[in-house]
Amino acid sequence: MRALAVLASGQGTNFEALALAAQRGELGGRIVALLSDQPEAPVLARARRLGIEALHLPTGRLRTRIEDEGPWLDALRARGVEVVLLAGFMRRLHGTLLGAFPDRMLNIHPSLLPAFPGLDAIRRAWEHGVRTGGCTVHLVEDALDAGPILAQSAVEVRDDDTLASFEQAIHAAEHRLYPQAVRRFLTEPWHREGRRVIFGASPAAAVAAPPGGSR
Ligand code: GAR
Repeated sequence: MRALAVLASGQGTNFEALALAAQRGELGGRIVALLSDQPEAPVLARARRLGIEALHLPTGRLRTRIEDEGPWLDALRARGVEVVLLAGFMRRLHGTLLGAFPDRMLNIHPSLLPAFPGLDAIRRAWEHGVRTGGCTVHLVEDALDAGPILAQSAVEVRDDDTLASFEQAIHAAEHRLYPQAVRRFLTEPWHREGRRVIFGASPAAAVAAPPGGSR
């Protein structure tokens, strides 16, 4: 079963949804570590409570990225991590980590991308007056909340919603979507056609390995 690590900065409710799915054998991989950039992040205690190794790693002097990603990569490699899941990790990643996990790093974002990338997406969608919000799981590339999309879930805005109830509905959708999307990503064949992620064997693979093995 593939070794996964989660990177998170805050509460860790998405991390917990992933960890519980893994415990039930529904994630398609096992979470071997939780890495955080925030020494006091509640997600660290949540991980320890769930019996998952929790590490706080240094970020250097920068606020929006990690100054030296080397120790982060070392920690992931030392634990044999094959796929990295970002779950409320509030720093942009750069060459060292992105280069080490090409098409092997996923993120969840609380909007229907490409609408409302960046911070405070739920509040900005609410203030914009959207009738439908939602969440997106995507591959991570060197651009903010912008890699190829793996899965999305829509959340309708009800007339009696408040920002708080809308927020709650989006988080509930995230907790369902992220484990499902990770499982699909890890257990089904997929390929890319430009920005599109297509699940199922690629046409080239079908030609190279016809069903039954002979023509
Ligand atoms: C989640 O809503 C996640 O989608 C968002 O941070 C929250 C973390 O909550 N991530 C982003 O906005 C990334 N751009 P959690 O710590 O309870 O999982």
